[in-house]
Amino acid sequence: MNFQGKTIVVTGAGSGMGRTESSMLARRGAKVWVTDIADAPGHVVVDEIIADGGTAEFVRLDVTDPASWTELASRIESVDGTLDGLVNNAGVSHRSGIEETSVEDWHRVMDINLSSVFYGMKYCAPLLKKGDGGSVVNVSSIAGMLGYFAAGYGASKWGVRGLSKVGALEFAEHGVRVNSIHPGLVDTPLLHSGSSTFVDTSLQSVPAGRVADAEEIAESVAFLLSDAARYITGTELVVDGGLTSGGIYHRITNELKAT
Ligand SMILES: NC(=O)c1ccc[n+]([C@@H]2O[C@H](COP(=O)([O-])OP(=O)(O)OC[C@H]3O[C@@H](n4cnc5c(N)ncnc54)[C@H](O)[C@@H]3O)[C@@H](O)[C@H]2O)c1
Repeated sequence: MNFQGKTIVVTGAGSGMGRTESSMLARRGAKVWVTDIADAPGHVVVDEIIADGGTAEFVRLDVTDPASWTELASRIESVDGTLDGLVNNAGVSHRSGIEETSVEDWHRVMDINLSSVFYGMKYCAPLLKKGDGGSVVNVSSIAGMLGYFAAGYGASKWGVRGLSKVGALEFAEHGVRVNSIHPGLVDTPLLHSGSSTFVDTSLQSVPAGRVADAEEIAESVAFLLSDAARYITGTELVVDGGLTSGGIYHRITNELKAT
């Protein structure tokens, strides 16, 4: 996949998957707008890309703040004129049910994980429409594919899935594609932010028997951004080592084998 001459925004690019996606896209020729609420990690990613011979620029972006998005869009417009790709990747984990979730946490998680995707598409659409076939990849989760135990996280990731379909319908006539990606367990700081028991127990339902590497998700994001996916819009790409397809039977058959 060659992204020579393409300009792509990645949110939450200072860590985990966003960082890996930014480096991969830059290695393949894209100019990457590395954005994050955290300045220092974002600058590190840009420095690494430049040291590697790539092109990148850091802009501090709080994905929950519409003003932050309009500033980013006008900066891209004045520097590059158009935009070819947007990866709405920034997100936070929150593993608690309806009763334990505070109203503040509910709104915080919905703002960072879902409103961000609305703002990103809303404010970047004019730039994407001006380009030659734009692509938006919205990072949901397997929590947006099945019944999930976390109120804010689950609802936000189902929202990302639904909003992606709205974007796909709305922007198709302008040659802009919108898809959602649904990673399973991925080896990033976010996955390890809670208890290790959660990860170990969840792994029992992953037929692939391991967590994903951030590179494996980045490859799928790159595919959806690329011309190879030019007829793919409004779809969900699940990258989960088989968890949502048959994880329950993987666990059951393993338990039966052990008895
Ligand atoms: N790691 C997993 O197992 C997993 C699985 C499925 C989906 N996801 C999703 O993948 C995405 C990336 O997750 P990750 O695992 O790489 O996480 P991570 O914690 O490593 O990185 C998240 C990044 O988002 C940034 N961020 C947080 N709030 C922000 C804000 N308001 N504005 C801008 N940036 C902000 C953080 O600074 C950080 O750099 C998230 O949307 C997450 O929900 C992760």
